[in-house]
Amino acid sequence: MLEMVINADIKKGKINKNIYGHFSEHLGRCIYEGIWVGEDSEIPNIKGYRTDVVEALKKLKVPVLRWPGGCFADEYHWMDGIGPKDKRPCMINTHWGGVVENNHFGTNEFFEFCEMIGAQAYICGNVGSGTVQEMQQWIEYMTFDGKSPMADLRRANGKEEPWKLKYFGIGNENWGCGGNMRPEYYADLYKRFSTYVRNFGDNIIHKIACGPAGDDYRWTDVLMKEAGHLMHGISLHYYTLPNGSWTEKGSATEFGEGEWFKTLKQTLFMEELVIKHSTIMDRYDPEKKVGLIVDEWGAWCDVEPGTNPGFLFQQNTLRDALIAGINLNIFNNHCDRVQMSNIAQMVNVLQAIILTEGDRMLLTPTYHVYDMYKVHQDAQLLTVDFKNTDYIYNGEKIPGISVSSSIDKEEKIHVTICNLNPIQDIEVDVDIRGIAVNRISGKVLTAETMNAINTFDNSNQVKIDVLKNLRLKNNRAGCKIPSKSVVLLEIE
Ligand code: AHR
Repeated sequence: MLEMVINADIKKGKINKNIYGHFSEHLGRCIYEGIWVGEDSEIPNIKGYRTDVVEALKKLKVPVLRWPGGCFADEYHWMDGIGPKDKRPCMINTHWGGVVENNHFGTNEFFEFCEMIGAQAYICGNVGSGTVQEMQQWIEYMTFDGKSPMADLRRANGKEEPWKLKYFGIGNENWGCGGNMRPEYYADLYKRFSTYVRNFGDNIIHKIACGPAGDDYRWTDVLMKEAGHLMHGISLHYYTLPNGSWTEKGSATEFGEGEWFKTLKQTLFMEELVIKHSTIMDRYDPEKKVGLIVDEWGAWCDVEPGTNPGFLFQQNTLRDALIAGINLNIFNNHCDRVQMSNIAQMVNVLQAIILTEGDRMLLTPTYHVYDMYKVHQDAQLLTVDFKNTDYIYNGEKIPGISVSSSIDKEEKIHVTICNLNPIQDIEVDVDIRGIAVNRISGKVLTAETMNAINTFDNSNQVKIDVLKNLRLKNNRAGCKIPSKSVVLLEIE
């Protein structure tokens, strides 16, 4: 029996809803086919955006969406993506398969899509191959409400009022695909580019600097020292590679317990990264004004056999549900510093929440985790005190349980628990203090096998079920957390 104590009256701070953010890049079939099919498509659409995808995303309450990349962002010239579609120039998407990008999905379309699904826009600007003027004009096009060349251009393109733009990234992975820079050089460029990212009218932009790759702590140190006072956020990118190697990542679906264990161990490393980068940030920003923005994370596996290697298309198993659940628990528990996260990516790319094939769509196990965890958005974090159990495999051990908890405005407590052990169920007893409990209910996401997937022919193999046999006595809630599962408890 694993005993937990939750003090409902000791609130630890708000879980920023943006932790439940997403990322959509011009990569493979994410934007084209996944989100945008065009108004003339036979696939049901609303003004060119897939109806099924829009409806699924609305249900998820997506708070924020990052676009247009990724590596694509530092090659993207926004003026190519505005105006009449048949006049927009094409470009080569050199990062992702060398395919021709027709620019039919551009700034106006991105904002329209965000409005449809109810998400805030988070745009990543081009530092690697763009100019300060180009970035300055993009901001003017999007947000200036007066009369000016760029605002008039926006009006000529059918948008009278400016959009609200709250989040803007100054480049992406500028240590790599965004220009192969040193942190000192990028810090100077950050200062220069970000100076011209202006606030017009009442639009206030949160500027996000390109942060480190994984455990590059020097990058964070230099950026915070040189430019920490000029930014609202610094990004962090870390992907779970099942085998821990970029050259042999491992299959998304064909794996045994060895790979399951290694993958979850890689996933848990996120907590060390968050703690260590936060410690560096504390040195320069003890008041925690600068957010850690984990704007790319998730499982990165080998592409599905037979698919374009540049399109990063992978299936999504129950293991992905655990990867998502563990990461989101980590972000919740460190919400004093983690202000946003954006899983890579929204549709048809990497750890996607949605897959499409022609006019068919399926919701992946990862989607269901976001559906269960959305109750944490803007709720108050509660700490969960417990002595973890070990999950031991081949003489190595990792924590057996990942958990986070919050209390919302209606005083409902939510506890999300992942059981990392693929074989053993765990009995849990939660002692709730500081509030009288009358009711408990639960949901569970699990399957017969570790690599269970949803397919277009059977899209309900991995789905949310009601968690049965819950106990409630003397303000203590009890239940069994099945092996390899993600559970949500709601306690009122
Ligand atoms: O998400 C795929 C790619 O991973 C992004 O374009 C890049 O930023 C990262 O390396």
